[in-house]
Amino acid sequence: MFGFLKKKKKSLIAMDIGSNVIKVLRLDTSEERPVITHFAMKDLPPEAIVDGEIMDRELVIQIIQDCAAEADIPDEPVASAVAGRAVIVKKIVMDKMSEEDAREAIYWEAEQHVPFDIDDITLDFQVLHEDVGADQMELMLVAAKKDMILGQAELIRDAGFRPEVIDVASFANQNCWEYLSAETVIEPIVADNPVLPEPGDDDIADFVGDDSETLEPEANTDEFVALLDVGGGLTNVHIVKDGIPYFTKDLPIGVAHFTEEFQKQLGLSWETAQQVARGQLDGVDKDLVLDIVRTVGSEIYKGLEPSLSYLKTAGEADGIDRIVLSGGGAHLPGLFQYLAEVYAIPSEIADPLACLDYDPDLFAAGEAEHLSPLLTVGIGLALREGVSS
Ligand SMILES: Nc1ncnc2c1ncn2[C@@H]1O[C@H](COP(=O)(O)OP(=O)(O)OP(=O)(O)O)[C@@H](O)[C@H]1O
Ligand SMILES: [Mg+2]
Repeated sequence: MFGFLKKKKKSLIAMDIGSNVIKVLRLDTSEERPVITHFAMKDLPPEAIVDGEIMDRELVIQIIQDCAAEADIPDEPVASAVAGRAVIVKKIVMDKMSEEDAREAIYWEAEQHVPFDIDDITLDFQVLHEDVGADQMELMLVAAKKDMILGQAELIRDAGFRPEVIDVASFANQNCWEYLSAETVIEPIVADNPVLPEPGDDDIADFVGDDSETLEPEANTDEFVALLDVGGGLTNVHIVKDGIPYFTKDLPIGVAHFTEEFQKQLGLSWETAQQVARGQLDGVDKDLVLDIVRTVGSEIYKGLEPSLSYLKTAGEADGIDRIVLSGGGAHLPGLFQYLAEVYAIPSEIADPLACLDYDPDLFAAGEAEHLSPLLTVGIGLALREGVSS
């Protein structure tokens, strides 16, 4: 193919301003496989952002600037995100009408469903079922708080950059997951017998042996996937099916809660407890660490319950079909195993860097694999290009 005929896509610089870590990255999406061309991340001191609120704006701006300078980003527009609590998603039923008419009517409808003043929110929706009887249709409504979105745009602007997209972190995470699941190549099963069975054929197990899972497409669009982003201070639960969010919520449990317990119960300094949270278990009582992770992790398990009951009472599903763990919490020793075990469903740790190319100089040796699950929001943001130029 002639590369010069390809439309060049407009790049966006992704700025993921987490409560613990700021990540800045840029993807070159003009190639078939996107390439990370710029990257840097910087820790924020604990007092800078508390419970999702920016407490020390000047400091946050300074660290955004330091991070951008270290990444040496070009002068391009920025995509950033606000935390999950800026948004609610809700399934609603309303009179059947064209999508165009629904864009207007949705504001009247939303008043009954959203606990915010209608003037303070911005709305979007997706039609789930065009006909649910009685001349009604079913929609998934997404309402986001304007002040949080405008506040984030102002922060980026005050740091000296041009905000073009302000997303919601959980939606950026979803965007990354959708990219990854579409990219995952399912290896064909090569058997001695040249005639491969059709999926569903009873004899299929004979061809597959121990690798039976490879027959299942990774991106099963009928699956309810729980994207769990265990960040510094919060866990965002975002449940999606076939590109549609069904549930989104922040739980007040993040890496910091695990770290505090390591510190208390193992008698460690904050720094050492943080290293334990990052998977460094040398010289500590591993069994006690795993016990703590299970106990604090059970709060995430309990916090997920309302979302599962919601899916059940809404008649959507008996439960979730897959867990995808991301954020710094993916490194908590035993957390992934605990969640996979209690739910007993296919589970994975998000690894977006496996589906992208990058300049190896951007990461220290072995660092890319470690950082990969922390970069889902940033990558989901950087993939929000779209406008051709
Ligand atoms: N390689 C790493 N670098 C930095 N932090 C890490 C690393 N591995 C684990 N962590 C831990 O993960 C947490 C940061 O995770 P993450 O970047 O997902 O949070 P965040 O995006 O800042 O927070 P939130 O999404 O809740 O606002 C920190 O508490 C940190 O101790
Ligand atoms: Mg985060």
